[in-house]
Amino acid sequence: MNKPLEAPELLTVSRLLPEFKDMPGGLMPLLHAIQEALGFIPASAVPMMAEAMNLSRAEVHGVITYYHFFRSKAPGKHVVQVCRAEACQSCGSEELLAQTEALLGCKLHETSADGRFSLEPAYCLGLCASSPAVQIDDKLYARMNQTRMARLVADIGSAS
Ligand code: FES
Repeated sequence: MNKPLEAPELLTVSRLLPEFKDMPGGLMPLLHAIQEALGFIPASAVPMMAEAMNLSRAEVHGVITYYHFFRSKAPGKHVVQVCRAEACQSCGSEELLAQTEALLGCKLHETSADGRFSLEPAYCLGLCASSPAVQIDDKLYARMNQTRMARLVADIGSAS
């Protein structure tokens, strides 16, 4: 059973629904708006969204789970995204990803035990000529390697 919506989550979803409910194809922008506001899309909001958008719960759930960038759980304080698209893969992003998993102590799509970092994939961050690329929160980093990643994580972790 899904956790009931907390009051702030309920307020946010209730505030956003009228903006998108009559928009053709409004589900995607609604989901983006909810994730932007809350950091994730609460599973308990699916029935409200389905009713407002005149869709089945399965349809809404299917869209949320199909797209890798929608989160169903609150992320850690910082989100580390390692690019897994072709140019970055050819420059070692899979090795960097494995090293980052070990560094953070969590796998892809998971959050570290201390709640400070979530690890997510990205599929091209627009820095292909300077691969491998990483995004941490809103900042992009090019030509990443294990040493730079360890330093960044230590700096960000100690500042928060
Ligand atoms: S493939 Fe990684 S930034 Fe484009």
